[in-house]
Amino acid sequence: VEPIAQMIADRVVDVPDFPKPGIVFKDLTPLFADGEAFRTVIDDIVARYAGEFDAVVGIEARGFVLAAAVAYASGTGVVPIRKAGKLPRVAHAVSYALEYGEATLEVSEGAFKPGERVLVVDDVLATGGTAVATLDLVERAGGVVAGLVVLMELGFLDGRSRLPGREVHALMTV
Ligand code: PRP
Ligand code: MG
Repeated sequence: VEPIAQMIADRVVDVPDFPKPGIVFKDLTPLFADGEAFRTVIDDIVARYAGEFDAVVGIEARGFVLAAAVAYASGTGVVPIRKAGKLPRVAHAVSYALEYGEATLEVSEGAFKPGERVLVVDDVLATGGTAVATLDLVERAGGVVAGLVVLMELGFLDGRSRLPGREVHALMTV
């Protein structure tokens, strides 16, 4: 196991039956709250994709925490992809099935310059529904997806199979 994967594993808390019976929630807030660990994961993402992106997308809500830090550390801007009804100037919306429930994500008008290379950041890749919708939105809005990076991939849900041909990196996989 890589040290960074171990660092994440040591800080994730598995919460059974949240938000629904049968779902094991991966609570990464202890990782976010640990300054050294948080900096380590952010620096790893920034170094891995150095020079390959012009903007960072964060997926509401947990992705925001990571995306803002990656953007700051790399000197790029950050673009929020938000859940329905939050953005005042919606350009595109995509609905998707979540591991639990259903949701819609939206992107703002003028979110990207045409051809802008976009790194998408989120905490967890589970079924992949959120990621598929987000990458679709980035491209509809004129961006070019440079990659998708997550802290944790739930390999048993095989979200990766819904992202063929995509650059997908997980700092750890369970
Ligand atoms: C969680 C997680 C990922 C998504 C992964 O977000 O933060 O964004 O689920 O699931 P998927 O691969 O099956 O789509 P959630 O929608 O629960 O909301 P939050 O980030 O606002 O907490
Ligand atoms: Mg999320």
